[in-house]
Amino acid sequence: MASRQLRLIVNGEEHSVPCVDSETLLTVLRERLQLTGTKLGCGRGECGACTVLVDGRLAYSCLTLAAGCESTPITTVEGLGSAQALHPLQQAFIEHDALQCGFCTPGQLMAGVALLRDTAHPTPTQIRVAMSGNLCRCGTYAAIERAICAVAERSA
Ligand code: FES
Ligand code: FES
Repeated sequence: MASRQLRLIVNGEEHSVPCVDSETLLTVLRERLQLTGTKLGCGRGECGACTVLVDGRLAYSCLTLAAGCESTPITTVEGLGSAQALHPLQQAFIEHDALQCGFCTPGQLMAGVALLRDTAHPTPTQIRVAMSGNLCRCGTYAAIERAICAVAERSA
């Protein structure tokens, strides 16, 4: 299948990448741009490991065609913070032991960041609803909730 150059804006940087129309955003992020923080779990919209922000909205990148994201701002977990300056939610995940194997963590972070952006002080129910699209096989849900609450409290 013929590929074409696709203009993607990822974490504020512009890229021109070869892409065929049937390729997912997840594939392009991981295999063309080496942004491997975004994970391939189920590959069919069930686990949330591949969650990114597309134009500010949460998206499962395994179900999103890269071609449909042309010239649209995309944020991946690599765009949240750096090793020297973690995002407050990344720091809170560490402080509250909100990860074990870490496989689901990038997706959890993206969902949590979107929640806190839209709802500065979410209730426990709002947190559970907002995070319900992100599964954790290690069962860190309670710690993730504590981490989100901690960030919300700090912004009080
Ligand atoms: S890998 Fe996309 S939802 Fe599971
Ligand atoms: S920390 Fe292992 S799957 Fe969530």
